[in-house]
Amino acid sequence: MRAARIETVVERRTPLLLKNFWYVLAESASVKATPVKVRALAQDFALYRRASDGAVVALSDVCVHRMASLSEGKVEGDCLRCPYHGWRYGADGACTHIPANPPGSPVPRRAQVDSYPVQERYGWVWVFVGDLPEDERPAIPQLDGLDEPGWRSVRGEFSWRAGYTRVVENAVDVAHTPFLHQASFGNADDPVMPPYEVVSTPHALSSTVVLAAPKPRGLSRLVMGGASTNTLLLRLFMPNITCLDSTFANGWHMRLYLSNLPVDEGTTLTRFIQARNFLRSPLGDGIARRLSRQILSEDLATVESQRPPSVPMDLGAELSTKSDALSIAYRKLLRSYAERGWQLDVADARRAYEEEGKIKLVASPRRRAAETKGAWVLDEISPRAQRRRDERGVPETATVDDGER
Ligand code: FES
Ligand SMILES: [Fe+2]
Repeated sequence: MRAARIETVVERRTPLLLKNFWYVLAESASVKATPVKVRALAQDFALYRRASDGAVVALSDVCVHRMASLSEGKVEGDCLRCPYHGWRYGADGACTHIPANPPGSPVPRRAQVDSYPVQERYGWVWVFVGDLPEDERPAIPQLDGLDEPGWRSVRGEFSWRAGYTRVVENAVDVAHTPFLHQASFGNADDPVMPPYEVVSTPHALSSTVVLAAPKPRGLSRLVMGGASTNTLLLRLFMPNITCLDSTFANGWHMRLYLSNLPVDEGTTLTRFIQARNFLRSPLGDGIARRLSRQILSEDLATVESQRPPSVPMDLGAELSTKSDALSIAYRKLLRSYAERGWQLDVADARRAYEEEGKIKLVASPRRRAAETKGAWVLDEISPRAQRRRDERGVPETATVDDGER
């Protein structure tokens, strides 16, 4: 297979931090009335639970008065009060009280911070980091087997010193299984990967691959039921959620969902939920949790060794083969979002901060409302400009090398 020539190119080393998706910023259980600071997409957020209906609020963490951290403040009813001079912000981000001003003084129009849409699902807090209106937002993915009768799940966290795109690719890359996962579900004696299809749906990719089953021993002997193959359904919900769905011989399923949060360009926080429809006694939870952690631990050192820490967007920058079809499809989709203007220019935001002391933030939907036009103290992070490949005059090399000469 030879790739078609592409029109535009993203810089090789630019990590693709994308706005306009729902990101898992916290476990639901960890957000209470006391605010918490969460770093995601190289920006800090203040999360808290408001009093009136218990809903989670996500504000930009930076108070626009003197830039103190709002997550150090106090929740009052539905509002968050800055710890420094006590400015009080509502859940929509608008400031409603400036204590130092005489009573009755109007609050300046620009006294507001970004407030991002929030939903809770699957025990996770999902924050829409972006500025699209509600009807244009990509949906929160449907994660089958969670919140369903007949299934039991365990959850946990795992962090990586690697960009999320490397972590995501690793999660849907099964050709490494015989090498890194010999101790869990890989079979070192049979590394051949039969050809597989990549199925594309809006904002998602999936492939079904059949691997040689691991040598039967211990728990795997029971779960695999003596089968010689292991069928895996790999699912990828753009840009950072993956699912490894194992179907065993006797109809048992195990699904390992990973939400791989880009904390910043080189740090990823993976929250996992592993769901199973067998051995549903709580007694199985410890083993399930250990197995999930073991699989991620087996990947850790190798993923952290990859250079650069984010996947290159130039498809010719690394040599791919047929077994990489799913990750090539992922890279192409990532690039399509960049071409839509959803790639955050974090390098520019960092430069503005370091050279000019200016903080830039991901725009929230409220910035698009007519009544808030021009009423923002802090600039939004601009989209990363995409250069047409023609301008560089460099033809793209084939993306997949099938070995033919
Ligand atoms: S810095 Fe927040 S009120 Fe002054
Ligand atoms: Fe792996």
